[in-house]
Amino acid sequence: MNKLRPVGVIGTGKYVPEKILTNKDLEAMVETSDEWIVSRTGIQERHIAAPEQATSDLAYEAAIKALKSAGMTAEDLDLIIVATVTPDMAFPSTACILQDKLGAKGAAAFDLSAACSGFVYGLATATSFIKTGIYNNALIIGADCLSRITDYTDRNTCVLFGDGAGAVVIGEVPEGRGFQSFDLGAEGAGGSLLNLAAGGSRLPASADTLENKQHYIYMNGREVFKFAVRVMGTATVDVLEKAGLSKDDIDLFVPHQANIRIIQSAMQRLDLPEEKVVINVNKYANTSAASIPLALVEAAEEGRMKEGDRILMVGFGGGLTWGASVLVW
Ligand code: UT7
Repeated sequence: MNKLRPVGVIGTGKYVPEKILTNKDLEAMVETSDEWIVSRTGIQERHIAAPEQATSDLAYEAAIKALKSAGMTAEDLDLIIVATVTPDMAFPSTACILQDKLGAKGAAAFDLSAACSGFVYGLATATSFIKTGIYNNALIIGADCLSRITDYTDRNTCVLFGDGAGAVVIGEVPEGRGFQSFDLGAEGAGGSLLNLAAGGSRLPASADTLENKQHYIYMNGREVFKFAVRVMGTATVDVLEKAGLSKDDIDLFVPHQANIRIIQSAMQRLDLPEEKVVINVNKYANTSAASIPLALVEAAEEGRMKEGDRILMVGFGGGLTWGASVLVW
């Protein structure tokens, strides 16, 4: 991969909706407690989209910031990928809706469905396009409005999710920098552990699917937790090996923000001190495809990476899927 031209991040932006839903708010909605949520997940609050906001609106806010920070206009864009499991509608794609909103007339646009791993899948896809010379740049956005598919009467899931968007523009970077490796994977056999059953061709929307609450996220939390801990371990080992690096070479670890206990288990395995780990699950909860870019962009905005730093991103989620990457900043 590195024999081709180096590709890396040249612009970043993020957006979370204004409204905050706290654990205290949730205590009034379901049988739960701030103590339970914080001790089991590390989450204190999450942001929730306004009724008039859809995923493309969140993506748009993050995208314009990313374009500005790259010093580009929308018309310069070659490719737009939106990683999401909560598209505005079944079709057209959220990426096409965004392309129009941005005025990115010349850009190809498509959505990518890999749940919480979607952003890393998107980075890998766009990097391949640029390395091979098909395109020169791409806007990759992880954006999700999980509040729209969350059952706020189900305490097993409603405390876990939030809304947001994170965006990067990628393009050619100086030699030695950029993406060094990717490790993507899937275990489709675990698909039923985390899904939204209705509204597709298997189970079209009907009075029954509404009655049975099949338009909401279903998750077997314990099984997904075990999967997460396992693949966070294997994917980080594999992606470091592909980059020719060891765990001691990591300057900043940017994990999917689903549960503080999953992040801590990865930190222990990698012997990472807290200052080398980006944690914002407390503020945003699990925002699916937006989770890794929100963490990456927030770290960049806080000045936590400097040129040449080696960043390890890793995520896991519905599919089941995982995705990891080593990026030299
Ligand atoms: O990005 C997508 C990937 N998703 C994830 O990464 C989620 C992975 N899983 C998890 O993070 C954890 O499994 C959860 C946070 C979902 C659950 O934590 P846990 O420590 O695995 O709890 P548990 O499922 O073992 O449940 C313990 C108890 C249960 O009660 P019983 O059956 O033992 O009496 C639950 O009913 O906690 C109960 N419980 C709650 N209690 C208060 C579940 N949700 C709540 C709640 N408040 N919100």
